[in-house]
Amino acid sequence: MPATAIIGVQWGDEGKGKIVDLLAQKADIVARFQGGANAGHTLVVDGKKIVLHLVPSGILHPQTICLIGPEVVVDPEILLAEIAELEANGIKCKDRLFVSNRTSLVLPYHKELDQRRENRASKKIGTTGRGIGPAYEDLVGRRAIRVASLFSPLTSLRDQIDTAMRQADPAPFQSVLFAPSKIRELNELQNSLPLIADQLQPFVMRDMTSFVNEALDADKHVLFEGAQGALLDYVNGTYPYVTSSHTHPAAICTSFGVAPQRLTKIIGIAKAYTTRVGEGPFPTELHGKKAEQLRADGAEFGATTGRPRRCGWFDRPAVEYACKISGVTEIILTKLDVLARQPNVRVNSSYQLRDKRIGRFNIEDISEYFANNEINFPDWETNSSVNARYYIQTIEGLLDIPIIAASMGAEREAMMWLK
Ligand code: GDP
Ligand code: IMO
Ligand code: MG
Repeated sequence: MPATAIIGVQWGDEGKGKIVDLLAQKADIVARFQGGANAGHTLVVDGKKIVLHLVPSGILHPQTICLIGPEVVVDPEILLAEIAELEANGIKCKDRLFVSNRTSLVLPYHKELDQRRENRASKKIGTTGRGIGPAYEDLVGRRAIRVASLFSPLTSLRDQIDTAMRQADPAPFQSVLFAPSKIRELNELQNSLPLIADQLQPFVMRDMTSFVNEALDADKHVLFEGAQGALLDYVNGTYPYVTSSHTHPAAICTSFGVAPQRLTKIIGIAKAYTTRVGEGPFPTELHGKKAEQLRADGAEFGATTGRPRRCGWFDRPAVEYACKISGVTEIILTKLDVLARQPNVRVNSSYQLRDKRIGRFNIEDISEYFANNEINFPDWETNSSVNARYYIQTIEGLLDIPIIAASMGAEREAMMWLK
């Protein structure tokens, strides 16, 4: 099974990082294919917590090559800081971590625009403020500064940045981006780019497409690491409350130039309940004490921004939809241990729209749906291992997709393998 995709099938933070780290023990290559430093993937090994934003979650295994693909948007400062921290902790990155020369850069003006738009918007998205939307706009607008551009002469690089910034946003913002107070920051950035280029240079790979395809030809095991979740996809997710990349496996093909039929396994990562950070519809959302308990027991605070995550019960139609659009072949359920501490666990299997019962997730109407939360698991605490297995069987039956494992804690070893 050489090409395996790991995809979040809710609104992100399903525990993808832990599972990628675990499966990377047997992988030759771990490759991130979309998103940027909006992601926060947490690994807990020997009691030590590591949060990765851009570096793939296979980095702890010395035999794996880690790739950051052309459709990721890379903030070079965050990447270099992440590399420095890993190296300081004895994890070697040189000669095994590579970023595509076609990867677009996230620069300070992207973050400025992202945060400014959020602050001014009457209808906020609740972005991570990491410049993701504006950076992807530059990419599709054909003005992005790509990693390869860092190695062009400084005058040409300055021109490219100047052009990109002037096109990035219409007049009201330009007065901000080019305000006298900002010119100094811009000059500082431009002056720092040669150093950034020098530091990144050992990690840059040309023609990553051939590298990945040749690895697959040679039957190497490639693990493609997704970021965010299928319901945050910018076309098939809960638009406009989404991120700005495609989050489902098709993005592996568009990013690395890998043909769709080469993907042999698509593992959907689903949390045993649901969380969401930022704005947007969330039919099974809980409020008050129940939400607080789930948040506290699950330590549901964003790995990137530290924001409290909104919490609710498992939403069968939402996960079913996410698995359908992602072509999920098997599921790993995470954070099942957290449910053992909840007094009255519920699962949602249908929505209510006035007097109509609806069994399917529907992007167009989702904001009007209420969850029925009709499946009840009382007294979980009294017999937690039996209840955990019953819960897994119930979810498997509802989704009709095999659940191959359940994660029972943040540590790498805390897993229950089922198939
Ligand atoms: P990702 O973005 O999908 O990689 O997920 P995050 O790392 O943002 O969030 C998942 C959080 O849950 C992290 O703090 C993990 O350490 C933690 N975690 C992962 N699996 C489990 C589990 O099975 N049980 C518990 N209690 N925590 C888990
Ligand atoms: P991982 O990979 C959870 C959410 C933000 C916001 C929306 C748009 O850790 O699962 P953006 O900064 O991308 O423009 O924000 O998307 N979001 C995530 N939520 N996990 C993530 O990544 C996320 N990345 C973005 O909270 O609602
Ligand atoms: Mg996360």
